[in-house]
Amino acid sequence: MLSNLAVRDVETLIHPYTQLASFRETGPLIIERGEGIYVFDTEGKPYIEGMAGLWCTSLGYSNGELVEAAREQMAKMPFTHLFSGRSHDPAIELAEKLKEIAPSPMSKVFFTSSGSEANDSQVKLVWYMNNALGRPAKKKIISRIKGYHGVTVASASLTGLPANHTDFDLPIANILHTANPHHYRNAEAGESEEDFSARLAQQLEDLILREGPDTVAAFIAEPVMGAGGAVIPPAGYFPAIQAVLEKYDVFFIADEVICGFGRLGTWFGSQKLGIRPDTVSFAKAVTSAYLPLGGVMIPERMYEAMLDESRKIGTFGHGFTYSGHPVSCAVAVKTIEIYERDGIIGKVAAKAPLFERRLAALADHPLVGEARGLGLIGGLEIVADKATKRQFDPKKAVATKCMGFAQAEGLIVRSLMGDRIAVCPPLIVTEQEIDEIFDRLTRALDRTAEWVRHEGLQAA
Ligand SMILES: Cc1ncc(COP(=O)(O)O)c(C=O)c1O
Repeated sequence: MLSNLAVRDVETLIHPYTQLASFRETGPLIIERGEGIYVFDTEGKPYIEGMAGLWCTSLGYSNGELVEAAREQMAKMPFTHLFSGRSHDPAIELAEKLKEIAPSPMSKVFFTSSGSEANDSQVKLVWYMNNALGRPAKKKIISRIKGYHGVTVASASLTGLPANHTDFDLPIANILHTANPHHYRNAEAGESEEDFSARLAQQLEDLILREGPDTVAAFIAEPVMGAGGAVIPPAGYFPAIQAVLEKYDVFFIADEVICGFGRLGTWFGSQKLGIRPDTVSFAKAVTSAYLPLGGVMIPERMYEAMLDESRKIGTFGHGFTYSGHPVSCAVAVKTIEIYERDGIIGKVAAKAPLFERRLAALADHPLVGEARGLGLIGGLEIVADKATKRQFDPKKAVATKCMGFAQAEGLIVRSLMGDRIAVCPPLIVTEQEIDEIFDRLTRALDRTAEWVRHEGLQAA
């Protein structure tokens, strides 16, 4: 029986990333409040938010300082914009701070309200730059199969997941997808991580040569793939990729929307994984998700080209009403101040070995084929047969069932395509809470195994 509130939801809302038909039967899980790393539903049941919302609530759910920063800014100046040379203190201060902590030398910051808008802006800026540089053919952007970069028309085209393209008539022209770096699934028998990385770098080079280097503008990647499976890259992957990109003057766009601001125990994922990005997209943890904010950081050479274009055209014809919303910027400034003052990122690095160890230990579970984490993010894959890596019939949605059992155990995790489960708790999680997350997840896996036996499920 759905509650009154649940019925009102079903009758009024379209839920993102939801099977809209079956949702009409199951109804929503309605979350009412949060405290630390816990959220509470309308019945008062607590859950550990093991996904930090959508990989974003890094400082948990009850940070009074962030609330106060928003209240103060809202009372002082709730809205002013950055169009036509207007400005405000919170945007200036935030941009200065971002340049200071950026993973490579950056010249300017352009703000958006989301990760999708950030990646859309990346595509447009790369095209704009190459037109300014007199390279009108250098326009193709290479993304990766199962990479996730958002849902607006260009960013959904970058996203390498079938559900984001099918019947949306995507991807648009000039977007290519290269191999997915998931060693467990895609390496050849006996192939080391390093050899696999070298092979993928060679494939990327072959693709660039096939297309013509003077037609390839940029490559975009998440340091750790999130929505495409919570996949940790194989050893040596990014240095090998970076070398290819440098050889052909192809921009490296680091999509730091999940990994930025401490997720891997460094300010940006690029620093942890040996990436020297040309440009960076960020969002999510920049405000600990207390308010929407995203953006891109760009290098001097791109800025110089933009100067030329806007001189020629008469304006820089891009920008959102909420580009650099002052309340979001004020909250971001406070969020970064807290990361620094409380040593949040160093603490993530200190807690990471426990998180990685507890996650890796789940690989011993009879249902788990792979379990791997880095920093405070990781994924596991449920398989029907560990020896052959064969999966269950996707229609049985075994990982989604496991997610339901975890929910019953008071743990929110996320099931992803390919029977994968992602874990990505708030950065403030304690070591005891990490243990609690994995104790609950183990019980959820045990219940899933019991259900699999009961249903007599076999490999697909
Ligand atoms: C790596 C990455 N890039 C981009 C996005 C899109 O961000 P948004 O949902 O804020 O548009 C996401 C969202 O999860 C993401 O994980």
